[in-house]
Amino acid sequence: MCGIIGVVRLSKARLGQPLGQIIRQSLEKLEYRGYDSVGLACIVENELVIRKGKGKIKDVSVTQGFDRLNGDVGMGHTRWATHGKPNDINAHPHRDCTGRVAVVHNGIISNYSLLKQELLARGHRFMSETDTEVFAHLIEEKLAAGYGGYHAFKAALMSIAGSYSFLALITQEPDKIFFARRNSPLVLGISSDALFVASDIPAFLEYTDRVVALSDGEVGFIALDGSVVVEDLASARRVDLSGRIRKIGWTPELARKGGYPHYMIKEIHEQPRVLADTVKSLLDDGSYQRAAEVMLSSKRIFLVAAGTAHHATLAARDALLTLGGMVSYPVVSSEYALHALGVEEGDCVVAVSQSGETIDTLLALREFKERGAMVVSLTNMMDSAIARESDLQLYTKAGPEIGVAATKTFITQVASLVFLAAKLGVMNGKLREDEYTAFLKHLEEAPELVEKNINISEPSAKELARILRDRSSMYCLSRGLGVPLAKEGALKIKEVSYIHCEAYEAGESKHGPISLVARMFPVVFVASDTGTFEQLSSNLVEMKSRDAYTVGLIPAGENHTLAGFDYTFTLSSALPVINTILFAPTLQLLAYYLALSRGYDPDKPRNLAKTVTVE
Ligand code: G6P
Repeated sequence: MCGIIGVVRLSKARLGQPLGQIIRQSLEKLEYRGYDSVGLACIVENELVIRKGKGKIKDVSVTQGFDRLNGDVGMGHTRWATHGKPNDINAHPHRDCTGRVAVVHNGIISNYSLLKQELLARGHRFMSETDTEVFAHLIEEKLAAGYGGYHAFKAALMSIAGSYSFLALITQEPDKIFFARRNSPLVLGISSDALFVASDIPAFLEYTDRVVALSDGEVGFIALDGSVVVEDLASARRVDLSGRIRKIGWTPELARKGGYPHYMIKEIHEQPRVLADTVKSLLDDGSYQRAAEVMLSSKRIFLVAAGTAHHATLAARDALLTLGGMVSYPVVSSEYALHALGVEEGDCVVAVSQSGETIDTLLALREFKERGAMVVSLTNMMDSAIARESDLQLYTKAGPEIGVAATKTFITQVASLVFLAAKLGVMNGKLREDEYTAFLKHLEEAPELVEKNINISEPSAKELARILRDRSSMYCLSRGLGVPLAKEGALKIKEVSYIHCEAYEAGESKHGPISLVARMFPVVFVASDTGTFEQLSSNLVEMKSRDAYTVGLIPAGENHTLAGFDYTFTLSSALPVINTILFAPTLQLLAYYLALSRGYDPDKPRNLAKTVTVE
């Protein structure tokens, strides 16, 4: 999704580089969100200077001379095309007819086509095909009607329907960056050297870790005199920020690659540490007890999430059943409207989202809440929209995840959710105290075993990737508690290596998928649920007799029950619910090395964005 950064420099002494260079570097930190074009605007001697183009930051910034642009007030944007194809003209910032207004935008203006017709009829000239440009012209009209810059910005917002985070520069008030947020993330970064407003924290983490997450419906500006003004757009009431500034404690090193060639591999290797942090926080955090009480007293439990987080909720569904004897309903966020029909007072929804900003999950949460459900959220982002709008907040401790393919957030989500399930189990008597104690011991040992499994798997994943690099299609199969991980593994492989990889319950082979299997067709078996090995062995035989190339992820010591794979990863294991955590890195590594051996950049998968903030 689009990335936004606005910078107001307060101290030239400490932030000496040209502003264009500061903005370019911040945009590079947002590259992970996915983009096709890039641009920036600065106020130079009270005039707007705009530079933009289609392509990578490293190329466009050179051809457009980003680093030479100076000034103290400026903004940049990486565009992920929705309205209008990726080209130089559609790149942001967009300007009005007079060249006095520049805007950047993330989101979709749903009524843009009507607004554009009206603006055209009133004589405005449009340069781009974007929905965003209407906003610049709307501000222009308000300025022409005699409004000051900030009032023109607010008045123009009143006509906009849809979702947005907007920044605007208006030459009439050249010392300010105006911003507004509705259903699209925006955070302020505050330091004595500069003020920032961005789509995500890594954009300014180099300079400050003091942040204010803006809420929907908030509007305001940052200014050269150091002021930070936030108002509620609807009521025009000033928002008191004193209690909202948080020091998040993330360091720039955490967000940098730290010597690894890609964020994805860095984050795979961070898993033992972030899992240990998450497990420790689970044991210390009273909110899990409260969440378990809410879930226990609710009529039904819905588990809402998208993408990788959805796979974590599938693992949660299985853990709730096996550890807590409780039935729950996983719902893919984008399908919420259908499932909401069954939601009523007394139900509970657990919304799981790494970013806490995924629009479908947010809309689902709102709809379910509206119908009377209690909302528990599990996110990796303090004060994110999903966290703020839930009745109870739980957090994973994965730290910033930059790689588009979610890795460390997945295993920390699964750890948190299976812990919650075990807690419920002991509370409702389905799990004995000694079983619960044994479960906790396994969970506490998990970080060490994850580390072992990463070390065992990495050289083999590299080798296997070379063997499989020319395949165009493969399967990832499992049974029982291993199925969610098979699905997640297949998603990782297709996301970054572009090999079509389908996951399904191994027993389904005969009902269709086996028709594709021929000599050397790769089939990966996730054998993490010991209770299913007998049937899984039959599925393996089924595949081998069709000359498939079979790969097994199996627990150490189980080679006799499940043997005969063409390629085997023998992994440290624990309880089947915890094996999802322990075995996940092996599939992530396979996906990563498949991408590399096929010549793709795993950090920039085509067509994908880290945070999906449009429906
Ligand atoms: C995007 C990302 C995925 C992620 C999904 C849900 O598709 O590329 O990695 O799993 O969104 O994101 P969330 O932030 O809600 O977990």
